[in-house]
Amino acid sequence: MFDYSPDPGLPTPERHRQLHDAVDAVTDGEPDAVANMANAAALIAEFLPDLNWAGFYRVIACDNGTELVLGPFIGRPACIRIAMGQGVCGTAAKDKQTQLVADVHAFPGHIACDGATQSELVVPVVRAGTVIAVIDLDSPLPARFTQDDADGLERIAQLLSSRI
Ligand code: SME
Repeated sequence: MFDYSPDPGLPTPERHRQLHDAVDAVTDGEPDAVANMANAAALIAEFLPDLNWAGFYRVIACDNGTELVLGPFIGRPACIRIAMGQGVCGTAAKDKQTQLVADVHAFPGHIACDGATQSELVVPVVRAGTVIAVIDLDSPLPARFTQDDADGLERIAQLLSSRI
């Protein structure tokens, strides 16, 4: 059993350090990408408060290039396929850049999978210069995510780039 319950009073940077260590510990030496994404999503949901969705979209080949396909997540059922450049996830994947969105309703093309979502953080996972997946976090609170969250998730994305 893995028990990584975070202290509720932790400052955000320390919370992210502990989250990173927990993701490192549970994915170390495990070659199965699905298992590693599933455990990472579960740990993110356990460590970071006020999320209604946390998970992965993977970059998969399709008829006209690549698209994002739903991967392991915690939350309500979500849209399965997202075109590159569409919504917050497709934008992060296409531009290879973290998207920190304080108000999803103000983001052109935002795809509403859960109507409760108010703010969103999407971080690309890059391997050898190519985006292979994105990590998507949604919150029912407006402006839930900070630069500390973006920095923390980018470190997790870097850690997972060779493990998923
Ligand atoms: N809101 C995302 C879609 C995925 S769900 O939030 C799980 C987007 O605009 O890309």
